[in-house]
Amino acid sequence: MIEDEFLIPLYQKFPLKIVRGNGALVYDEKGEEYIDLAGGYGVAIVGHANPVVSSAIAEQAKKLITCHGSFYNDTRERYLELLSKHLPEGLSKVFFCNSGAEANEAAIKFARKATGRQNIVAFTGSFHGKTFGALSATWSQKYRKPFEPLIETVKFSPFGNIEKAREAIDETVAAVIVEPIQGEGGIHVAPDGFLSGLRDITKAKGALLIFDEVQSGFGRTGKLWACQNWNVSPDIMTVAKGVAGGVPFGFAATTAAVSATLRPGDHSSTFGGNPLACAAAIASLEFLIDNMILQKTVEDGEYFRSRLEWLKSKHPSIIREVRGKGLMLAAELKIPVKDVIMKGFEHKLILLYAGLNILRFLSPLVITRGQIDAVAKELDKIFAEIEIQGPKKTIEGVAME
Ligand SMILES: Cc1ncc(COP(=O)(O)O)c(C=O)c1O
Repeated sequence: MIEDEFLIPLYQKFPLKIVRGNGALVYDEKGEEYIDLAGGYGVAIVGHANPVVSSAIAEQAKKLITCHGSFYNDTRERYLELLSKHLPEGLSKVFFCNSGAEANEAAIKFARKATGRQNIVAFTGSFHGKTFGALSATWSQKYRKPFEPLIETVKFSPFGNIEKAREAIDETVAAVIVEPIQGEGGIHVAPDGFLSGLRDITKAKGALLIFDEVQSGFGRTGKLWACQNWNVSPDIMTVAKGVAGGVPFGFAATTAAVSATLRPGDHSSTFGGNPLACAAAIASLEFLIDNMILQKTVEDGEYFRSRLEWLKSKHPSIIREVRGKGLMLAAELKIPVKDVIMKGFEHKLILLYAGLNILRFLSPLVITRGQIDAVAKELDKIFAEIEIQGPKKTIEGVAME
């Protein structure tokens, strides 16, 4: 494979060459069809090759592709007008960039500048990206160890434990960074009271609250932003993945007060807010709204979950727990997830893992009921095959990567 020959081997590769997509389906070179439950690791929110997004990109590409942030641009203005109507309460200023890690880097810098403080509190099980600042706030030892020392002013507190967070957040803390639903960590939903508790504590201590919605935001949970499930607004929200229908894009949205502490030159990104990505982002957001995709996600998320619960009742030796919100779902397994993922290809399913034993579902939100039924049917067969062959090994508890 040419990719194996020339690319630095930084990715776990699967035996599939994807050449085309349509909604929740992708196709290989031979035209074989697969249901995509990984959605490009949560990117294909509005579906692969969404026609609304594709034509917006094509139109913009004919007009203007690049325009640096130091000039004004009509498409960027249109996106800002639209986005500003939909941001969580209190967030009115944005910085545009190209990825989740880049959005989190910006958030950490903004928090330091706005508070004049250095320390950051993050949580066990977190994933915020692999650039230095974002990696410093990421929990997994596997990702951190080879690159230490990282930023040493980041402290970790147990996810979901508000009393421990209260002890960790003091007047030296610039920001608390948290995923409302931990994605890479294995789809752990913040328990009720956790995010609102963090909101109260950070306010009292003069620290900023950063919600990393890179994986959970943009409709994934059935609300446009995951924090809206708990009616809590952060000081900074970071978003990326599917926000521009698959074109690289990310942003950090913040308050007027934080924005007022920042000056030209404090931060920038050459490609951030380029017209091509903005055109795709307008089309993606309009698609979600015009087609009532949020309501669909709530309903189909419940349906998908019920099918996973059915699988759990049918295969109690394989599934330990089903969890998640909207179409951000997981089945924690009692067996290694790798066996299931590899069998998935034979059954024309593209499955996604989180850690060693968690099967994660980040399908495009446009997935149909018929496709969800097909997923359940094929998983049923896969689990039956594994039961006959016998699982290779049982894993107790949540195994992190
Ligand atoms: C919650 C969260 N934050 C940040 C990132 C990093 O995003 P990117 O890979 O675009 O840098 C991810 C990626 O999976 C993520 O899930």
